[in-house]
Amino acid sequence: MLKKDVEDALNLQLNRETFSAYLYFSMAAWLNSQDLPGFSQWMVAQGMEELTHAQKFYAYIQQRGGTVRLEAVAGPKVGWESTLELFEETLAHEVFVTGSINSLVDIARDASDHAAGIFLQWFVTEQVEEEESVGQVLQRLRRVGDNPSALIMMDGELGKRMATASSATPAE
Ligand code: FEO
Repeated sequence: MLKKDVEDALNLQLNRETFSAYLYFSMAAWLNSQDLPGFSQWMVAQGMEELTHAQKFYAYIQQRGGTVRLEAVAGPKVGWESTLELFEETLAHEVFVTGSINSLVDIARDASDHAAGIFLQWFVTEQVEEEESVGQVLQRLRRVGDNPSALIMMDGELGKRMATASSATPAE
């Protein structure tokens, strides 16, 4: 049985994962409007991954006999100044989510909920990969700078890689 504070924290994370999907779908739409279909496709896949994260929390709360409380999901930002700014915000958001997962691990530990701790370990590992994959795209974008042909090439690579791996980063 879940303790109340653990249940509340799991529900909060369920909301945050769902918001992450909203945010990335909004970003994907903006990228598409900028004639960057490869970046957009990459970001749609990121959003779809967030929905699978949300689903894991949704299922786990029920598996433990808890109550799923679906709160309102905030509307994400709509426009960005540049692709670089968008990916800087993506990385900042993933760092925020990592902090949120770490807080959740602390809450589970303080409640001596070792089962929840084990469940959360998957997310601890996943966040390392999430920050790495977004960070690689960001690093490459910084190198591309104002070079439009390099950006178009990167767009093609991101779109191609998405066909085989949902969180793939462009080839160096
Ligand atoms: Fe579900 Fe990108 O963290």
